[in-house]
Amino acid sequence: MSTSAASQRLTLTDITRLYQSGEKLVMLTCYDASFAALMDAAGIELLLIGDSLGNVIQGEDSTLPVTLKQMAYHTRAVKRGSRRAMIVSDLPFGASQLGAKETFRNAAKLMASGAQVIKLEGGQEMAATTEFLTRRGIPVCGHIGLTPQSVHQLGGFRVQGKTEESAERLLLDARSLADAGACMIVLEAVPAALARRLTREISVPTIGIGAGAGTSGQVLVSYDMLNIHPGKKPRFVKNFMDGAESLQDALAAYAREVKSGAFPAAEHTY
Ligand code: KIV
Repeated sequence: MSTSAASQRLTLTDITRLYQSGEKLVMLTCYDASFAALMDAAGIELLLIGDSLGNVIQGEDSTLPVTLKQMAYHTRAVKRGSRRAMIVSDLPFGASQLGAKETFRNAAKLMASGAQVIKLEGGQEMAATTEFLTRRGIPVCGHIGLTPQSVHQLGGFRVQGKTEESAERLLLDARSLADAGACMIVLEAVPAALARRLTREISVPTIGIGAGAGTSGQVLVSYDMLNIHPGKKPRFVKNFMDGAESLQDALAAYAREVKSGAFPAAEHTY
């Protein structure tokens, strides 16, 4: 890594350089300071304070009840616990749907809590907001495919982009977000072939979750891959605690397998 010191906080320039050199980007969700320190030590480059905290921390059955105040609280904790990883924070449901100005106001609160990048769900419909934020100093990570905040609209947690029409829509979503200035795009639960094509067609990194091995990087919900969260896991989750001697081991194995391309394997892919 070419930051001036290994302990320095990674910037967007560092992440872009890794992407351009063809290295896979390693992201995990993180919600507190202790896990942030462990993940930092394991070489996880991007810590996502995901609104999945609604599910895995709060025990809700969706991300919809999570508030901006809660996101700011967890962002601050993760920032305090880490020294190197880049901090990406989710705008929760209701914080990005009312237009660019309102979204900027909400994103600014997460930036003030330590976020370096703001993630928001949605495709073409979020392009204008993405452009508004990026032109005003807020890096934006898009999130398309299965967008959990729209679970009721989508009719459940289903793989997206399976028909020709929906695949075409996802390509347009990705292009419009990249053109609007998004610095990276999360692709959730889409067929691997589509994710690979989309990754080739845009010039910003794609971070896959259930999107196969052809994306620029990978993310998982940490409580899933560490087998902390009970219940049935989606196909794309690998239990990295299997055979690991410690949390640190499991996190390091994840980083290693993402970098080498060993994860995700065919069995984690649609
Ligand atoms: O909230 C979250 O954990 C996420 C990931 C699933 C990408 O958005």
